Amino acid sequence: MIDYRPFIDSLAHTPLSVWQAPLTAQLDTLFATLNDGNLPRFLAYIDQLPTVGKVTFDPNNVTLSATNSLNDKDQTHLRTALRGLIPWRKGPFRLFDTHIDSEWRCDLKWDRVAPHVSDLTGRCILDVGSGNGYYGWRMKAAGARIVAGIDPSWLSVVQHLAINGYVGDATHTVLPFTLEAMTPDLEAFDTVFSMGVLYHRRSPLDHLAELRAALRPGGELVLETLVVNGNEREAFVPPGRYARMNNVWFLPSPKALAHWLEKSGFEDVHIADVTPTTTEEQRTTEWKPGQSLIDYLNPSDQTKTIEGHPAPMRATLVATKPAGAKRLRRYYLD
Ligand SMILES: C[S@@+](CC[C@H](N)C(=O)[O-])C[C@H]1O[C@@H](n2cnc3c(N)ncnc32)[C@H](O)[C@@H]1O
Repeated sequence: MIDYRPFIDSLAHTPLSVWQAPLTAQLDTLFATLNDGNLPRFLAYIDQLPTVGKVTFDPNNVTLSATNSLNDKDQTHLRTALRGLIPWRKGPFRLFDTHIDSEWRCDLKWDRVAPHVSDLTGRCILDVGSGNGYYGWRMKAAGARIVAGIDPSWLSVVQHLAINGYVGDATHTVLPFTLEAMTPDLEAFDTVFSMGVLYHRRSPLDHLAELRAALRPGGELVLETLVVNGNEREAFVPPGRYARMNNVWFLPSPKALAHWLEKSGFEDVHIADVTPTTTEEQRTTEWKPGQSLIDYLNPSDQTKTIEGHPAPMRATLVATKPAGAKRLRRYYLD
């Protein structure tokens, strides 16, 4: 239903060539057994996108421009199709005259994270929980060779198709599955990003082990997640919802998260950034109508969520998988 062949072909002659056969088999099975009414509905909007002549792409600003401006009819078709794919949580994007002002200003997170990441030039990257691939474009702009986003949300996958249909970059994709469903123990990626995913996992240490298993020895993990204040022994498991989300499990302190990473077999662990989430970074827009962060905070005390928990704060940690490291030593798993 979605042609991933150009991406899979692009893995030839890279350290990810070992992934070509299992990935092909996994996608074949997925599409052969797929029973999801949303995907055809989303893909119908892709069919409505207008053909545009010569296009240039600025990946730093995630902006598409056309040599000849679109006529009114094409502009209307473009906007209608893109609005069919609402909500746009991640962005912003500019497609010709249309500015997708997404719920999240992902450029602000990238500005916080990027200075702490090793040079991405020539690297093969896994972006776990990539959403629609916004950060993948910034990684490509920073010189990445391959960016494989993975995300189980079909809407994110199709939003990426809408953008990449114009960019035409076979080396950047968003694949429709979770990290848990991915080919295990690839040990092939130079850099693995996990941003905004760990707190959704009921078993965060298993998530760290899976991230590590995707990395080559000597590779780098960039981990970004919700945290709370506290010492290296403290993590908060919200009773019920957290900021209206019902799938939030562990919010460690940054020091506890560093400890988890060391326990999980990473070295050179450092806390690169800790920043409270603001209503400038996450807000309602015409591309994500309805509620957003302001509605998830206590109206009379914005240091608390609506449930009375500490308001969202996010940390970025960077760590290395030791060179020469094989699988996790057994005692780590006891
Ligand atoms: C809060 S968003 C973060 C998106 C983006 N990485 C960012 O930092 O802005 C979490 C994303 O992770 C995806 N996700 C949730 N569980 C996942 C898993 N187990 N493996 C991969 N992606 C997952 C969700 O579909 C969602 O798009």
